[in-house]
Amino acid sequence: DNEIESFGIMGGADMWMIMSFIRYGKLYVLLNEDNELLSVAQYQGVLGKKEVFLYGFSTSLKERGKGYGKILLEETHNRLRKLQIEKIYLTVDPDNTKAINMYKKVGYTIEELQKDEYGKGIDRYLMIKNLL
Ligand SMILES: CC(C)(COP(=O)(O)OP(=O)(O)OC[C@H]1O[C@@H](n2cnc3c(N)ncnc32)[C@H](O)[C@@H]1OP(=O)(O)O)[C@@H](O)C(=O)NCCC(=O)NCCS
Repeated sequence: DNEIESFGIMGGADMWMIMSFIRYGKLYVLLNEDNELLSVAQYQGVLGKKEVFLYGFSTSLKERGKGYGKILLEETHNRLRKLQIEKIYLTVDPDNTKAINMYKKVGYTIEELQKDEYGKGIDRYLMIKNLL
């Protein structure tokens, strides 16, 4: 709570952290012919493991519902497989039906409900995709 009061909803994330996420994780984007952003996927490596955490995923507002999210997820799965990654984790708001449907469509399963994961009353589903 204190951190949110002090730093806002970003929880203290700053440019330095963002640069390290980009350098030491994987950031994939899907662009159209005019190089405009359609979808973005942000993965973070898990130290010492063949696993990554998908900490950010979104499709540009006006491009939603056109299949781009699914395309980008499937393409990133292929690329991560080539990097010997075996498993992807993510957490999602249990009310975010769109995202949950999308993740299920590309093979994620709900592993557990994490109570109060991001503070009191803020639950998350932990979802896992096996790449093997
Ligand atoms: C969730 C989100 C990434 C989906 O991206 P998208 O590019 O619109 O998704 P797609 O068009 O590829 O759809 C893939 C699947 O998602 C589900 N889906 C997408 N839009 C949906 C909607 N409005 N209602 C229900 N399910 C939906 C469907 O299962 C769909 O498959 P289908 O078209 O074969 O039925 C997008 O809505 C978004 O950016 N939301 C805000 C950010 C967010 O919530 N990110 C996830 C955080 S974990």
